[in-house]
Amino acid sequence: MATLPALKQFTDRVNRIEISATMAVVAEASKLKAGGADLVEFGAGEPHFPTPQHIKDAAIAAIQQNFTRYTAVAGMAELRSAIVQRHATDFGSDYKPDEAIASTGGKLALFNAVQVLVDHGDEVILPVPYWVSFKDIIEYGGGKCVYVETDENEGFRLTADMIERSVTPRTRAIIINSPNNPSGAVINPQDFTAILRMAHKRGIYVIADECYVYLNYTGSTFSAGSVRDVKEHLVIAGSLSKTYAMTGWRLGYALAPAPIISAMTKLQSQSTSSSAQMIQKAAVAALTGSQQCVADMKAEYIQLRDLTLDLLGKIPGISCVKPQGAFYVYPNVSAYFGRTGVESGADVAKRLLHEAHVVTVPGEAFGTRDHIRLSYATSAQEIKRGLERMKEWFAKL
Ligand SMILES: Cc1ncc(COP(=O)(O)O)c(C=O)c1O
Repeated sequence: MATLPALKQFTDRVNRIEISATMAVVAEASKLKAGGADLVEFGAGEPHFPTPQHIKDAAIAAIQQNFTRYTAVAGMAELRSAIVQRHATDFGSDYKPDEAIASTGGKLALFNAVQVLVDHGDEVILPVPYWVSFKDIIEYGGGKCVYVETDENEGFRLTADMIERSVTPRTRAIIINSPNNPSGAVINPQDFTAILRMAHKRGIYVIADECYVYLNYTGSTFSAGSVRDVKEHLVIAGSLSKTYAMTGWRLGYALAPAPIISAMTKLQSQSTSSSAQMIQKAAVAALTGSQQCVADMKAEYIQLRDLTLDLLGKIPGISCVKPQGAFYVYPNVSAYFGRTGVESGADVAKRLLHEAHVVTVPGEAFGTRDHIRLSYATSAQEIKRGLERMKEWFAKL
């Protein structure tokens, strides 16, 4: 096949990034499915539950009542109030509505936060394993990722000391995601507080991705927002996607000091503007209504996690740190490397997809090559079917 001439077709900033690896896996799996393959899907990171009825009803009512217009860029006043009140009630944080912005998904809130804080050549500390998009969001903004490795033998623990060793005069921000995608690790409140205080003292921003903050199975929940004295250097990115099974609705938010929120609003005013008005109304219903649905989903995720771990434990050679939150397991499959051409998590994920019809995501997408990620946000039946296929596949390797 003829190769394309090396013309500079696109901008440097877009050439610096790659398509999201999880989206790429979903695309490859879709092709196989379109060809009739019966896949077991552990790939995409989204709840298998439908959005709770009262949230759907609120959206339908909003459309009927003609909430179908532009709103203020940062979101309607009632939504910004609902966001800060929910957070204050659940975590004891102290934000005012002008310290909140609603965005079209938590990913956009994170993207905007990085674009307003990180300049060319700035360093951003990123603990490994990291969620796929952080690296590209930082690099798109011209920032440099400084990776801090965590050790799975320590449960992927992250401490202030580990981070402080990587701080330089160019360090601008640290991105923390707890509960973590992909490992499910939860930073304990003491370690998290020490990280926040260390960063605050040095004038470094912590961007805390709280996408899974309600899916914490340790028995106590924790938000960086509870540490009120570091607020000046803290940006919290939140999302309704996983908490309320609302991935497709695209509603996330950020909490931060008002000047940061103003800068993010300015940026958002030149791209997506506000999120859709009827979705904002549904988000108000989600945040102000009964939170029983959140507790119910969480209880089921814990059962699904335990089932997945139990079945993974029956595959010889595979080890897996017990996740304390989110809905992923991150097994180490390196015991199989060196067998019939399998050398990395990427090889395992690819062959599992094509030979066992099980969809997983390679660890390389999250900065490690010894692992694959499985999302257990699916039915117990699918988990059993998929893990049985995996067991057979590994046995034949
Ligand atoms: C760690 C993490 N942060 C942020 C997001 C963004 O979620 P959304 O844009 O759907 O709010 C995701 C989604 O998978 C995630 O896993």
